Amino acid sequence: MEHTEVVLEVRNLVKRFEGLVAVDQLNFKVRKGRIHALIGPNGAGKTTTVNMITGDNPQTEGDVLFYGKSISKLPVYARANLGIGRTFQNIKLFSTMTVLENLLIGGQSKTTKSLLKYLANPRIAQKEEQQLKEKAEGILNFIGMYQYKDELVSNLAYGRQKMTELGRTLMGDPRLILLDEPAAGLNPSERKEFIDIIQKVFDQGVDMFLIEHNMDVVMNLSHDITVLNFGCKIAEGAPKEILENEEVISAYLGEGYRKQMKKEAEQNA
Ligand SMILES: Nc1ncnc2c1ncn2[C@@H]1O[C@H](COP(=O)(O)OP(=O)(O)OP(=O)(O)O)[C@@H](O)[C@H]1O
Ligand SMILES: [Mg+2]
Repeated sequence: MEHTEVVLEVRNLVKRFEGLVAVDQLNFKVRKGRIHALIGPNGAGKTTTVNMITGDNPQTEGDVLFYGKSISKLPVYARANLGIGRTFQNIKLFSTMTVLENLLIGGQSKTTKSLLKYLANPRIAQKEEQQLKEKAEGILNFIGMYQYKDELVSNLAYGRQKMTELGRTLMGDPRLILLDEPAAGLNPSERKEFIDIIQKVFDQGVDMFLIEHNMDVVMNLSHDITVLNFGCKIAEGAPKEILENEEVISAYLGEGYRKQMKKEAEQNA
């Protein structure tokens, strides 16, 4: 694993909110071809970390590197254009628009380079709009959402809304997607579908950074896990190691989890 290319690296990342150190001297590397999970208790600093990576809420100190280049001073759109996509813990969609329209909005930042160009030649605009629409339909097809393309987002089940958000993220051609609790609030069948789709996107060569509380999802998907507690990294490693790590069990997984694992191990023996 050590020799694979580093996609994302955070160095000595610190985020201070008034009177609170939300993330404290955080270091980790996300490697190519690995799904990297970030786990930890509520308030541990996971979303804050993602916001520093995307630029939505930049760091107080430290650096973020994408493919070896510092991006920590770039605005959000510039990082997105480099290939960093994200989904939000609380869905951010236009609920009174259709699924397709939401994707078209997600794709716009890439094509709308020059308004002047459009004013000068409406036909170019029409052509690009058509291309964008075909791209959106292709993505919806890929994530199993094509049949919902003309539905209003507000009429969709929660799982479908989450999937729509993933589709919108894919419109930006990300090389790395940061998923902030994609499976939260999903029922078991929606969860399974989401795992399959994330796996399918990953298989296309898109790297994944996953924040998730559901350990089923984490264990199913991730190759590497970083554990945060009160803004500090307390453990890092392969899923199996993390599950057996005493500090992770006491800070996050809990004794109940340990008992459950033991029971399952006995049943499988
Ligand atoms: N904009 C903000 N202003 C002040 N404090 C904040 C802000 N955003 C987050 N915090 C605080 O920073 C800490 C880390 O929050 P964060 O949202 O990153 O946690 P999290 O690990 O994502 O938790 P959860 O699992 O509940 O989503 C918390 O104590 C939170 O209250
Ligand atoms: Mg969070």
